[in-house]
Amino acid sequence: MTFKPAQWPRKLRSQEWYGGTSRDNIYHRGWLKNQGYPHDLFDGRPVIGILNTWSELTPCNGHLRELAEKVKAGVWEAGGFPVEVPVFSASENTFRPTAMMYRNLAAMAVEEQMRAQPIDGAVLLVGCDKTTPSLMMGAASTDIPSIVVTGGPMLNGWFRGERVGSGTALWQMSEDIKAGKMSQEDFLEAEQAMSRSSGTCNTMGTASTMASMAEALGMALSGNAAIPGVDARRRVMAQLTGRRIVQMVKDDLKPSDIMTKAAFENAIRTNGAIGGSTNAVVHLLALAGRVGVDLTLEDWDRLGRDVPTIVNLMPSGKYLMEEFFYAGGLPVVLKRLGEAGLLHRDALTVSGGVIWDEVKDAVNWNEDVIRPADKALTASGGIAVLRGNLAPQGAVLKPSAATPALMRHRGRAVVFEDIDDYKARINDDALDIDETCVMVLKNCGPKGYPGMSEVGNMGLPPKVLKKGITDMIRISDARMSGTAYGTVVLHTAPEAAAGGPLAIVRTGDMIELDVEARRLHLDLSDEEIAARLDEWQPPEPPVATGGYTRLYHDAVEGADTGADFGFLKGCRGREVPRDSH
Ligand code: FES
Repeated sequence: MTFKPAQWPRKLRSQEWYGGTSRDNIYHRGWLKNQGYPHDLFDGRPVIGILNTWSELTPCNGHLRELAEKVKAGVWEAGGFPVEVPVFSASENTFRPTAMMYRNLAAMAVEEQMRAQPIDGAVLLVGCDKTTPSLMMGAASTDIPSIVVTGGPMLNGWFRGERVGSGTALWQMSEDIKAGKMSQEDFLEAEQAMSRSSGTCNTMGTASTMASMAEALGMALSGNAAIPGVDARRRVMAQLTGRRIVQMVKDDLKPSDIMTKAAFENAIRTNGAIGGSTNAVVHLLALAGRVGVDLTLEDWDRLGRDVPTIVNLMPSGKYLMEEFFYAGGLPVVLKRLGEAGLLHRDALTVSGGVIWDEVKDAVNWNEDVIRPADKALTASGGIAVLRGNLAPQGAVLKPSAATPALMRHRGRAVVFEDIDDYKARINDDALDIDETCVMVLKNCGPKGYPGMSEVGNMGLPPKVLKKGITDMIRISDARMSGTAYGTVVLHTAPEAAAGGPLAIVRTGDMIELDVEARRLHLDLSDEEIAARLDEWQPPEPPVATGGYTRLYHDAVEGADTGADFGFLKGCRGREVPRDSH
């Protein structure tokens, strides 16, 4: 695709605030001068908002203040005027009930902040899981020129000679404790080894996946996703990003120019190749809704089917993001997709050029980290979208993280009505369950939890773990962490709390999973299902006290369309009424 830059020079929106001699202009400009800005900075040069998700309670983004200084340096160098703006930072590891409940709030706040303030272009300084999609969604709804730079992953964790992957090791070790294979003392010692440096989770979890999605969509400079948070090249990337956004503003290169259907298709295939998180499904569906791209669950299934997972990273594989960077990072993967005819080579990026030009010369420095297709981790690495009477609007499963022997299975359901019911009974040796059963968890979807928490990879019962079993089929309307693994059916839609068939499954019912056939079937007659649904009563909203939780519960849509708020879909543009001073 060729992009035709806008004419430059021209009057930018920031001049509505800062250009001229009216009382309002003096009010806006004069107050900003209290920070020591010379008058000539208000001469019509691009004002760049560095939207910073730094927070001491978002540890994955704890180094973004320093990185913002490098972005600023780049903006100054290119002749822009940088202003650092703190924005809502939805921390994955501190927000309750789940950071996902705040993704839409953060996106809404960022959108309004961009539009209501004198920002001509934005650098989205993000990292932790929800910070990346929330800021991209906000930017998409204003369509103000924007570019992503992520904080980069943590260095490898090491414990007693083994790699410790963020999250992935935590899930594994907590199962080992239950199975009696690890002591509590060792667990505490391993905790110290997990997070050795600034940065996001070092596995191909949701943060690394979303950084990769931003790059594959064309919204970040090439090579951004994998550079470790503490590597000097991360700071170089921040500075180059600052330089680049100034030209993007001059050219008026907007999110809607870049995030086309072709760009989303590139991102979906990339997700298959990297063994990316299932969370990317809800985030990309929501993001597409903001730019008006018609993206569906079917696109995920269709586009991912013939994409082999070639990136050998936890949770699907062996290595961590540091090694992915040393091997060449995402440009190598995109080049492979391009060579296989699985990349829209002419998709536009923030560079103003096409994606193929940026990746065609990438070199793979480690063929065990980024494997050839004939040595792929799995031949069909995309997200499998399952349908059937248990998931009429779809459910997802990540084949690269699942156990091949369980991909076709019929088993007896053991049902947990909600997460509290699960926690109360799972460790009870009297629970009637074995490894052939199918664990079913209800009321953990967007409305049910609320927020669609990452509890779908519920831990196995200790009595099964003690037999050496490490995986069972689990089905829920929840999400799972991008760092998690297992034969886990997620995002079942409609969710139980909204009256989906999941709500009426009972312990003892038989369930059939056939991933190859994309089938998820509850072995009951249509009449029986209809009769049970007739009897079903919706649960009380979990927190019905008003405020944002109430808004979230009432406005959130299903996982199958991205769990956005209906009223936030679409692009509302950058225009704002004049101020009233
Ligand atoms: Fe923040 Fe994983 S918890 S990136």
